[in-house]
Amino acid sequence: MNKRPFLIDCDTGTDDAIALMAAVHCPLVDIKAITSVNGNVAEVYTSRNNLDLMDYLDQDIPVSRGAVRPLMGGALDTEGAPDTHGKTGLGGIKLPTSQRAFDPRVADQVIYETAVACKGELELLVIGPMTNVAIALCNHLDLAPLIKHIWFMGGAYQGGNVLPTAEFNIWADALAGHIVTQSGIPMTMVGLDVTLKAVMTEEDIADLRKAGTKAANLTADLLDFMVARRDRGGEDLVMHDALAFAAAVYPECLSCKDCYIDVECAGEYTLGHTFADVRGRTGKKPNASVALDIDVPKFRRWLVETISAGKTEK
Ligand code: RIB
Ligand code: CA
Repeated sequence: MNKRPFLIDCDTGTDDAIALMAAVHCPLVDIKAITSVNGNVAEVYTSRNNLDLMDYLDQDIPVSRGAVRPLMGGALDTEGAPDTHGKTGLGGIKLPTSQRAFDPRVADQVIYETAVACKGELELLVIGPMTNVAIALCNHLDLAPLIKHIWFMGGAYQGGNVLPTAEFNIWADALAGHIVTQSGIPMTMVGLDVTLKAVMTEEDIADLRKAGTKAANLTADLLDFMVARRDRGGEDLVMHDALAFAAAVYPECLSCKDCYIDVECAGEYTLGHTFADVRGRTGKKPNASVALDIDVPKFRRWLVETISAGKTEK
């Protein structure tokens, strides 16, 4: 069976790391490259986390550095979300420092060259601010038709987290969100409407500990960090980014609706708002499939089984 070629663009962070562990252990996909972006924490940490995590999992997937600031959005004025992910992004977990070098190319060049090499079959999993993808689209006018599908964690049909009207990834770089959602590339939006329901439990942690592989134990360690975070009033054990990957490889756990989406790039109270015309009121042609409901037990079981199946030694 031909594996689907993927590139993952991420601001690794705790939930990004869990999504990466599901992706590298999923038999359906071939991860061609990982590109790093400023978001949850500064890019110097997100890129370091990506490289160290890949080495820890014995994966020689190329990791490149990327945008250190947004094109235009909320991340211009903030230092990410250290309260949610810890100062360096992995919940205080220190992985062994990789001796491997970063891919010498910058993220947008990696996105473009990988898309060209995959001859129109490349799928992108975008689970941080969309800065790198937007830059790649602006630098290479022939890129859009080379991307088969974008699966992104971002936005919300209703509500927000960083603002009542905006979700963090899109808010952090609203202009990048607008550029990517208007690119004409087929895409699936996995927003807060479903990700806030994708909450793991202490039972899942116990199951991961039972599996006992490096990936399962590291995932359990990250979830333990999230338990402490929840107990001090922070975010729950929410698998925002892993659910975006599940949308790509385990669509049975979600229900989606095609509709027109765009990103608000102005407004004192609405910067980074994702407008999703779920009721078709604008008459505009749908440009995305928007996830509106989730089968939570199915998703949780899939995530635990996918990560636990990873053969990386204990
Ligand atoms: O709003 C949730 C998103 O912001 C997730 O991708 C999380 O990792 C943070 O980047
Ligand atoms: Ca993320």
